[in-house]
Amino acid sequence: MATFSCPIHFILLSTSFLLLLIYHSPLFKNNQTIISPLLTPIFNQHQPNSNTTQVLPQFGSPLASTNIALNNSIVSHKKKKSSIERIEADLVNARLAIQEAIRRKNYTLTEKEDTFIPTGSMYRNAYAFHQSYSEMVKRFKIWVYREGDTPMVHNGPMKHIYSIEGQFIDEMESGKSPFLARNPDEAHAFFLPISVAYIVEFVYLPITTYHRERLVRIFKDYVTVVANKYPHWNRSRGGDHFMVSCHDWAPQVSRDDPELYKNLIRVMCNANTSEGFRPRRDATLPELNCPPLKLTPACRGLPPHERKIFAFFAGGEHGDIRKILLQHWKEKDDEIQVHEYLPKDQDYMELMGQSNFCLCPSGFEVASPRVAESIYSGCVPVIISDHYNLPFSDVLDWSQFSVQIPVEKIPEIKTILRGISYDEYLKMQKRVMKVQRHFVLNRPAKPYDVLHMVLHSVWLRRLNIRVPH
Ligand SMILES: *[C@@H]1O[C@H](CO)[C@@H](O)[C@H](O)[C@H]1NC(C)=O
Ligand SMILES: *[C@@H]1O[C@H](CO)[C@@H](O)[C@H](O)[C@H]1NC(C)=O
Ligand SMILES: *[C@@H]1O[C@H](CO)[C@@H](O)[C@H](O)[C@H]1NC(C)=O
Ligand SMILES: *[C@@H]1O[C@H](CO)[C@@H](O)[C@H](O)[C@H]1NC(C)=O
Ligand SMILES: *[C@@H]1O[C@H](CO)[C@@H](O)[C@H](O)[C@H]1NC(C)=O
Ligand SMILES: *[C@@H]1O[C@H](CO)[C@@H](O)[C@H](O)[C@H]1NC(C)=O
Repeated sequence: MATFSCPIHFILLSTSFLLLLIYHSPLFKNNQTIISPLLTPIFNQHQPNSNTTQVLPQFGSPLASTNIALNNSIVSHKKKKSSIERIEADLVNARLAIQEAIRRKNYTLTEKEDTFIPTGSMYRNAYAFHQSYSEMVKRFKIWVYREGDTPMVHNGPMKHIYSIEGQFIDEMESGKSPFLARNPDEAHAFFLPISVAYIVEFVYLPITTYHRERLVRIFKDYVTVVANKYPHWNRSRGGDHFMVSCHDWAPQVSRDDPELYKNLIRVMCNANTSEGFRPRRDATLPELNCPPLKLTPACRGLPPHERKIFAFFAGGEHGDIRKILLQHWKEKDDEIQVHEYLPKDQDYMELMGQSNFCLCPSGFEVASPRVAESIYSGCVPVIISDHYNLPFSDVLDWSQFSVQIPVEKIPEIKTILRGISYDEYLKMQKRVMKVQRHFVLNRPAKPYDVLHMVLHSVWLRRLNIRVPH
């Protein structure tokens, strides 16, 4: 419990704290009556509020509050709420709607519904996810700071392994995202559009030093300017602010001043929980290698019965885990096909599309673009890593569509994979195909695609705090 203790300026709402736990705990998947003893009092305490029909009119639906804002004659009669009070009341409604969906175990469909409805065991709680996604679409507004100059602010790499960082920043800078706030007063969250990958590119390359001081200082300068110039950072101590980076060094921006960044939501590819990644505050960004904009059917690989390779890996000996993998398996086994580099005439994505299982070991850092590539090619990912907090794991139950193997079990890869029945494999493969949409990059972003899933991760974390007012 210690990690959940509430600092004065940062209140973890117990209801929403419960919310995240509901996402995290498989116990809640099908059976509401299982509530850990620790949570029971919290749950009871909020019982009165769980009656949405009562609470919603009391706070005003989002539509009603827009009317109030528009109609001055009404405003003059009512005590005007501060913007943050309005935002927090809005979030109360969102939480209640999610809890209601969890309670009813059903979807609430809106009229202009919903081309896609999440169903299946890949989701920890499909109803909660559908509802929180709908609430996000209905409400979530993000203010992107205008502060700072290119190249290191307002853009980032659009290609290669850090591409999702630049693509995300670019999406938020494009002016086209429906989640953009028109002004800071209507924002639930604040985006710091600064690119760690571009700081490294423009300040460090060609690399002459690996000292991170300059990176740390540039990032801190940016935050300090924003905090001095505008009221929002101090109000939440950064708790409703987020940064997004895929660069390996990103976690280190907060290294020298953990107190300053204590509440900041860091959305990062390098989600190594033993290097300070905090799964309840931070969120994992999936790593994608050069934007596979909109998958073509060819990318999706062969149907399961035509896949001739049992398990496949090809890649450099980056980092300790790969070293162990290559030592044990490189060109040693017909079924577990592990290569260092592929011959020129062989296509990596094509081979993935012919494989049942694709090995995705961590490289120099925990994240690997292979996880997404494996999913694109309809190959069941075999994640070989320690301390990696997998992307979107608040929502997705990775055990349903991937195999996770700890590093110490690398010698047992074949036994473990052979232990999975063909029927079970077919089910997993089908689920891989179904989660593809959550990893596809579209520009502009589309419902439930990777950029919107990243926003949903931020939304969930924003739901979990209350900014004092
Ligand atoms: C839910 O859990 C309770 C307590 O373990 C159990 O008695 C009950 O049968 C379960 N209900 C369902 C629908 O699984
Ligand atoms: C919930 O609200 C409805 C409508 O106001 C009311 O009829 C019902 O009794 C309430 N239920 C609880 C448990 O308070
Ligand atoms: C604004 O308020 C006035 C007086 O209460 C009312 O007549 C009018 O219809 C309202 N307009 C809108 C757009 O709600
Ligand atoms: C779920 O909601 C739909 C309509 O939205 C309704 O037709 C259906 O009966 C509901 N199912 C349950 C189990 O409540
Ligand atoms: C925010 O807090 C810092 C440090 O306490 C202070 O220097 C700064 O002036 C504050 N910003 C605003 C806008 O008041
Ligand atoms: C994750 O962090 C631990 C602790 O610093 C480190 O030993 C490990 O190598 C990291 N994992 C990867 C894949 O870099």
